[in-house]
Amino acid sequence: MTTTQPTTTAGSPRPGPDAAARSVVHVGSDAAREWWRDAVIYQVYPRSFADGNGDGIGDLPGVTAHLDHLRRLGVDAIWLSPFYRSPQNDAGYDVADYRDVDPLFGTLADFDEMLAGAHERGMRVVVDLVPNHTSDQHEWFAAALAAAPGSPERARYLFRDGRGPGGDEPPNNWQSIFGGPAWTRVEDGQWYLHLFDSTQPDLDWTHPEVRAEFEAVLRFWLDRGVDGFRVDVAHGMVKADGLPDWDGHVEMVAGAGDATGDDAAPGAPEDGSTGAGNSGPMFDQDGVHEIYRDWHRVLAAYEGDRALVAEAWVEPLSRLARYVRPDEMHQAFNFSFLTTGWDAAALRRVIEASYRANDAVGAPTTWVLSNHDVVRHPSRLGLPDLGVRPNGLFATDPQPDEELGLRRARAATLLMLALPGSAYLYQGEELGLPEHTTLPAEVRQDPAFFRTEGAEAGRDGCRVPLPWTADAPGFGFGPTGATWLPQPESFARYAADVQDGVPGSTLELYRAALATRRTEELGHGGLAWLDVWADSPDVIAGRNRGVTVVANLGASPVALPDGAEVLLASGPLAADGTLPADTTVWLRA
Ligand code: GLC
Ligand code: CA
Repeated sequence: MTTTQPTTTAGSPRPGPDAAARSVVHVGSDAAREWWRDAVIYQVYPRSFADGNGDGIGDLPGVTAHLDHLRRLGVDAIWLSPFYRSPQNDAGYDVADYRDVDPLFGTLADFDEMLAGAHERGMRVVVDLVPNHTSDQHEWFAAALAAAPGSPERARYLFRDGRGPGGDEPPNNWQSIFGGPAWTRVEDGQWYLHLFDSTQPDLDWTHPEVRAEFEAVLRFWLDRGVDGFRVDVAHGMVKADGLPDWDGHVEMVAGAGDATGDDAAPGAPEDGSTGAGNSGPMFDQDGVHEIYRDWHRVLAAYEGDRALVAEAWVEPLSRLARYVRPDEMHQAFNFSFLTTGWDAAALRRVIEASYRANDAVGAPTTWVLSNHDVVRHPSRLGLPDLGVRPNGLFATDPQPDEELGLRRARAATLLMLALPGSAYLYQGEELGLPEHTTLPAEVRQDPAFFRTEGAEAGRDGCRVPLPWTADAPGFGFGPTGATWLPQPESFARYAADVQDGVPGSTLELYRAALATRRTEELGHGGLAWLDVWADSPDVIAGRNRGVTVVANLGASPVALPDGAEVLLASGPLAADGTLPADTTVWLRA
C-alpha cells in the first residue's frame, strides 16, 4: 500500500524534517527485545468475535476459525477477555471456576486448539485474570454463605457487620462502580463488599489462601502455554485498612462524564492527567504492589518472556508507572491517552508524560483507543461535544457524526501506531466499526445499565457481534444468523469481506500500518517532535526512525515537506498535496 504522492505545489512548502529542529521525547532502544515491548495486541471479546456453533454467542472455535484474519492483519498477540466458567452476570468478569472454560465458549480442548493455532501463526496469547472478585457462584462464596459470621470461609471475602441499630446500615458508604451501594446483606445480617455487581463479591487479598490460589491459577494457564495475563482491576485488590468512608464518586469508566467539569484535571496538567484515574480507599493502595512482585517471580520462572498487563485506571501516569517497575508487571494500559480526545496540545502532553513516566522505570509505554468498556473511538471522536465521555449512548442522546468520527479515528490510529511502545487494538476497530448507539433497553445486558436504573446506557454498544460478511444473515457472525445483541444495519458497510483487498478501506489501512510498523521497527524506535509545523498548533509531527508522522487535528489543510514520499495516509490528501483536516500521514522524509 505504499504510494508516492506528488510534490506539494500549493500552500507554503515546508523544509524537510531532516533540516528541522527536534525535541526528543523518547530515546529508542535495541537492547531489550522482549516481545511485549513493541507488540501490537488485539483484544478478542469472545462472545462477540465469531460464533462457531450458531447459538448467537461467540466462542473459542469461532476464534480459531478466524485466526488467519488476525495473522493477515499483522498483530503480534491476542488478548482474550474471560471465557471461564461464569454465570455471565458481567459477561464473564464474574468467574465461578478459574480453571475451566464455560460451556458457552467451548471446552479446555477448544482452548488448547485455539492456543496452538495462534502459536503456529506466530501470535502470542494473553488471557484475562479477574482477581479482585469472584462470581457469587464460585465454590468459595457458596461456602462463605453457608458458614457463620467470623468463620474461615467468610475470611476470604470482605464480610462485615453493618452499622446503625440492628446493623441495618452498610459497613461504610462506598458505592458500586456499576451504581448503587457496594454492600449487600446476607440472611444472617452480615454484609459483603462488591465494588461491582452484587454477584461479584470482592476477595480479601490480605488472606494467604487467596494469594496462594491465584498463584496456582497463574501456573495452571502458564503450564497450558499462555504468554501472559491481562489483570482486571489491578488497582483495586487491596483496600485501605479499616475500609474508611469516602465521599468521592466512582464511575464505571473512570472519568466518564463531562471532561471539562469536575472530573477533569485542572489546567491541562503536565502529567497528562485527563480524569481517567480512580481514587479513594479502594484503589491504588500500596499493598497491591507486593502481589505483583510475587506474580513477577511466578512468571519469571517460566521460559519465554511471559507478561503481565495492568488494567489500572490510575493517574497521574507517574503513579501508573509504579505498576510496571522492573520487578512488577510488564505493561499497563494507558487510559490517559484513551481519554484525551481530539486535541493536539493535549495529545502531545499525554504522549510526553507517558514516555517520561515509563522511561523512568524502563517499561514500554502502551497505547490504546478502544476496548470493551468504552465507546468505540470512531463514535467517540464523532460526538458533537468532545468534552463529554459518555458511558455508552442512548438513541435519545446527541448522535455521533459517523463520517467525521471515522475520519478522525483513522487519523488517531495512524498516529498511535507510529508511536514507539506497545499498542492495543479492540476487535472490530480494524473495520472502523462504530458503536451501536441506538440499542433498545430490552436487549441491554450490562449490569451498569440495570444498577444505575437506566441512567447510564452501559457498555453493550461496543460489544455488538462483528460483521464478517455483508450478505450473510447476522453479517456472517455465525452459521445461523443469530446474534446475542442486534447489529445495526450500517454494519453491512463495515463487514470484513467488503473491505478485504479494497484500497483505502480501514482494514487495508490497518494492515498496511501494521506491516510498515513492523518493517520499520517503529515499536522499538524513538520519538522526537518536529518543529516544522510549530506555527500550526493543531498539528502533531514527530519522527520515529525512518518515518515522519504528521497528524492534522485542525480544520484547515497544512502543507507537507517538498518531495516527501507518502508511505501511508489515513485519508486522501488534497489535490494540491496538502494534508486535509483530521488526517494523519506517514512520510519517508
Ligand atoms: C474491568 C473490566 C470490565 C468489568 C470490570 C469488573 O474494568 O474491563 O469489563 O466489568 O472490570 O470485572
Ligand atoms: Ca456459540
